[in-house]
Amino acid sequence: MISPVLAAYAVANDPDDPLSALRIDERPDPEPPDGWAVVTVKAASLNHHDLWSLRGVGLPEDRLPMILGCDAAGTDDQGNEVVVHSVISDASWRGDETFDPRRTLLSELHPGTFAERVAVPRRNLLPKPPELSFEEAACLPTAWLTAYRMLFTRARVVPGMTVLVQGASGGVATAATTLASAAGARVWVTGRSERKRDYAVKLGADQAFEPGARLPERVDVVLETIGKATWGHSVRALKPGGVIVTSGATTGDPSPTELNRIFFLQLSVVGSTMGTRDELERLIRFCVGKGVRPEIQMTLPLDEARRGFAAMDAGDIYGKIVFTP
Ligand SMILES: NC(=O)c1ccc[n+]([C@@H]2O[C@H](COP(=O)([O-])OP(=O)(O)OC[C@H]3O[C@@H](n4cnc5c(N)ncnc54)[C@H](OP(=O)(O)O)[C@@H]3O)[C@@H](O)[C@H]2O)c1
Repeated sequence: MISPVLAAYAVANDPDDPLSALRIDERPDPEPPDGWAVVTVKAASLNHHDLWSLRGVGLPEDRLPMILGCDAAGTDDQGNEVVVHSVISDASWRGDETFDPRRTLLSELHPGTFAERVAVPRRNLLPKPPELSFEEAACLPTAWLTAYRMLFTRARVVPGMTVLVQGASGGVATAATTLASAAGARVWVTGRSERKRDYAVKLGADQAFEPGARLPERVDVVLETIGKATWGHSVRALKPGGVIVTSGATTGDPSPTELNRIFFLQLSVVGSTMGTRDELERLIRFCVGKGVRPEIQMTLPLDEARRGFAAMDAGDIYGKIVFTP
């Protein structure tokens, strides 16, 4: 007899009303294959990915019902405190896991972290340092890891560079602002309201601007997750030879893509997706060593997760939203 676990899961694909596709109820306990461990989830954080899944992006109907959630921190079956790396590469894959064409994230093929227990490959577990709470650690594996790779692996940001972060309050945006500032970059941010812009400055941004605003000068690097709504500004904000790193398109594909400006000013457009286990290990060390912590807007019991989804769907976010089963 398999005991059930409380979980937040997708039961349908609804592009227009994603919350109608969300259920919070009992699901069967995970059964780990060989080489996998069961983690008792102490905290899991919400990402825009979970809303995309409810809309059916990356989660086709034949995989439903599917427990959502990419990020978790908890305890493994030996009682060790762990952080879960969400990128599941093929067991035979060697090297950068994000380059494995067969990789998936938890909640795409295998049940995700919005549950009391989750099964993950043992190689995806990292020790959680005592300096980080479970809630803080649970914010790192998706939004923070993505921002870390965008900044330091893909854009090769070094101290003194000027970085423009498009978006002030989102998970990736707040991570990028905090990390780039802690690493000695000059950080400029765009945000859609004064409150969001003030919030970005509180996180470490040197200045915050309205979306599309003329900047004091051109920047070395732009971090993009928004797409259509900000792309033109991102391209126009760059110095000749500058780099846009993109990891998302929340508002859709940009049109026009500004190709003339991209080739004439020799700009680089660089894609980035999630991060490796090694990068997550370095990110955790950076957070502990520099006293950097994710900003958590709210922590909700898992049975109230719908409130967190609704806040993110409405764009009413300030940092990360965490669920505790
Ligand atoms: N490729 C990857 O591995 C990867 C990893 C993580 C995330 N992503 C993608 O990146 C995107 C952001 O993820 P997230 O978890 O950070 O999402 P989130 O927490 O919901 O943040 C959304 C961000 O988008 C901005 N935004 C939304 N709609 C906008 C609009 N119409 N105009 C201007 N700005 C708008 C918000 O700016 P304000 O602050 O001004 O409200 C906010 O900063 C998502 O599309 C996600 O799927 C991809």
